[in-house]
Amino acid sequence: MIGKLNHVAIAVPDLTAATALYRSTLGAQVSDPVDQPDHGVTTVFVELPNTKIEFLHPLGDDSPIAKFLEKNPGGGIHHICYEVDDILAARDRLKADGARVLGDGEPKIGAHHKPVLFLHPKDFLGTLVELEQA
Ligand code: CO
Repeated sequence: MIGKLNHVAIAVPDLTAATALYRSTLGAQVSDPVDQPDHGVTTVFVELPNTKIEFLHPLGDDSPIAKFLEKNPGGGIHHICYEVDDILAARDRLKADGARVLGDGEPKIGAHHKPVLFLHPKDFLGTLVELEQA
């Protein structure tokens, strides 16, 4: 059911330092920061030949990643995102299997302007999983 790995998201305490690390030390192609006020984050994308790395930094007072950075002050992997062809069919199949979909269970428009859902980390090996409509 799941397809390509769309991205791995890393919460970072310092976007400038994270950008320098990936651009200079690892020699990757790194985007400029983009504020995503609807999602409470500023994002930076690292373009790799086969997937992306997404840096997440809190934006505003109510950021969904603020708590994560409190627990992981040096940063850490926040979630992984897999593509699916049909997000509603994927959701219904997962729910029928007992997996928990976060929030109200309805897809929201994600950072890439495509419908996304998040799955409970306790149901997926301790990893927050994002599904994105391909
Ligand atoms: Co994501």
